[in-house]
Amino acid sequence: MDWATQPDPFRRFLGAPLLPLLLTGVDAAPPYDALFEPSAVAAQPVGLESVSAFFQFSLALSAWKESLGSRWALRINPSSGNLHPTEGYLVIGAVDGFTDVPGVFHYAPKDHVLERRCELPLALWDQLIEGFPRGTCLAGLSSVHWREAWKYGERAYRYCQHDVGHALAALGLSAALQGWRVQPLTAMGDDGVSRLLGLDREHDFEQAEREHPDLLIAVMPSTITHSGERHLGLPSHALETIRDCTWYGRANRLSSDHVDWEWIDAVADACVKPTTGDLEGSTQATEFSDPFDTKRPAVSARRIVQQRRSAVAMDGHTGITDDQFYLMMDRILPRFERPPWRALGPPAYVHLGLFVHRVEGLVPGLYFLVRSPSRLAGLRNATRREFTWQKPDGCPPGLPLYHLTSGDARGVAGHVSCGQDIAADGAFSLGMIAEFEQPLQCHGAWMYRRLFWETGVIGQVLYLEAEAAGVRSTGIGCFFDDPVHDLFGFGGSAYQSLYHFTVGGPIEDTRLTTFPPYAQEVTNRVTKDN
Ligand SMILES: Cc1cc2nc3c(=O)[nH]c(=O)nc-3n(C[C@H](O)[C@H](O)[C@H](O)COP(=O)(O)O)c2cc1C
Repeated sequence: MDWATQPDPFRRFLGAPLLPLLLTGVDAAPPYDALFEPSAVAAQPVGLESVSAFFQFSLALSAWKESLGSRWALRINPSSGNLHPTEGYLVIGAVDGFTDVPGVFHYAPKDHVLERRCELPLALWDQLIEGFPRGTCLAGLSSVHWREAWKYGERAYRYCQHDVGHALAALGLSAALQGWRVQPLTAMGDDGVSRLLGLDREHDFEQAEREHPDLLIAVMPSTITHSGERHLGLPSHALETIRDCTWYGRANRLSSDHVDWEWIDAVADACVKPTTGDLEGSTQATEFSDPFDTKRPAVSARRIVQQRRSAVAMDGHTGITDDQFYLMMDRILPRFERPPWRALGPPAYVHLGLFVHRVEGLVPGLYFLVRSPSRLAGLRNATRREFTWQKPDGCPPGLPLYHLTSGDARGVAGHVSCGQDIAADGAFSLGMIAEFEQPLQCHGAWMYRRLFWETGVIGQVLYLEAEAAGVRSTGIGCFFDDPVHDLFGFGGSAYQSLYHFTVGGPIEDTRLTTFPPYAQEVTNRVTKDN
C-alpha cells in the first residue's frame, strides 16, 4: 500500500453537463419496517424530487469524519476499507422538471449531482424500455477494482463484489422508500451493461482506471406486480446503436500510478457474465411463511438508513433478546417478492453459520440458519455428525434456525475472523456459507460474483436491522475460510465461507468529529418533504 498512489474515492466525468439533485430530511415517513412490505409505501412519481431521494438514501454521503487533520467521507452504503469501488448510474427517459432528453447519467456522491454521460434519442429510449411499465428507469452499478486493490491486492476482487451486493441492497431499499418496485435484469451480459453505461468507451477512460460492469436493475414507479412476461434484459439491437449517440465527459484519473494485479484481471476475465436466460429456482419465494410482525415502535426508515455505521469495536457485554435475534434472522430470509431481495432475484445459495454469544434465551454456541429450507438435508449431511440440528426452544415455527452445539464460541469466532475482537465481543457473529461447487458448475464462473452479491445484500439487511434494534453491526471481509469449514465440518468445495459479520453493542470512537454529509442546509435545497 503506497499512500502516494491512494485512489481518489470520487470518480468524475470531466466536462459532462451536471444535473444537481435535491436533499431531503430524514424524519419523514415511511417507518423503517414498512420498507420490507411490498405495497406499504405509496409510489412517488418519477421526477427530480424522487430520483434525488433515491440516490440520497442509497449511494450518497452519510457523514464526514475528521481526526488529527484527516477528513474522510462515509456513505449510505458501506465499503471494505471505506475505499468505495462501486459507481452508480441512472438511465432515464424524458421526465418533466428533470430532463427533457433521455439519457445515461453517472451519480457523483460528493456533490450529490448527476453527470450526463449520454443523450439518448427518444425513439432509442422507447426501444430500450419496450415492454416495461410506463415510467420505468434503470439503475446500474460498476466497480473500479483498482480502488480496493490499492490496499488489499488480490483480495480486492472479492471485496468489490461484496460492495456491489451492499450497494444493490441499498438501491433496492431506497426504491422501496419511494414506493417503487425493482426488477434485476439478470439476463444481461456484461457487454450489454458496459455498452449502455458507456464503460466500453476507450476514449473516455484514456488515462483513467476502467470500470467493470456489474449489473442493471429496472426501477418501476409502481408496487403492482404486473402479471405479464418479465423482462430480464434489454434488446440487443437497441444497445448496438448507443455507441453512436452523443456522449459527454472524460473519466478522471484516480491514482498517479498503479500496481498490476494480474490475478484480479485473470479472475475478472474468467467471471465475465454472458447473456443468459432466467436463473433456476425462482419458485423459492413461496418457501417461507409470512414475515414476523415486529410490534416495535415506528422509527423513520430514512433515519435508520442514514445513521447506519460500522462498529469499530464491540463492548463485550451488550446482548440482544431472542425476539430481536429471531426478527433479524427472519429479515434475512430470501423472500424474493419483497425488498431488498427482489433487487437480487432468485435463487438463494447462502446460509448462515452463527456464533451466538449473548442472545437472551438462547444457549451460547453454534447455530445455523438454512436460507433455503429444501437444502436442510444436504447441509446436515455435509456438517459434523455430532451437531444436534434442533430448533431452539421458543424459536418461531417458520424460522429455519437450528442449534448445532453449545459452548463459548467467542474465542473461535474472533480467531476465524482474522483475530478481530469485534467478532468475539458482539452479541453474535456469523460466517456466510455459500453453496459453491454446484451453482458454479450449473451457471458458469460468473456465478462466483453473484454469490458475493448475495452475501452483500444479507450484510446490508444486517446493518440496518442492527440499527433498528439499537445495536450496531460490521461486515468482516477478513476471515480464515479453512478453519470455518473445519469447525462446521465442511469438506471439499461443495460449500464455501464467503463473508463474516458481527452484531453487538458498539464502542464509539470519541477521537473522531462528525460533520454533516453536505454543506448546504437541507432546508435550502429541499422542495417538499414527503
Ligand atoms: C465487504 C466489507 C468488508 C469489511 N471488512 C471489515 C473487516 O474485516 N474489519 C472491520 O473492522 N471492518 C470491515 N468492514 C467495515 C468497513 O471498514 C466500513 O464499512 C468502512 O470503513 C465504512 O464505514 P461505514 O460502514 O461506517 O460507513 C467491512 C465492510 C465491508 C462492506
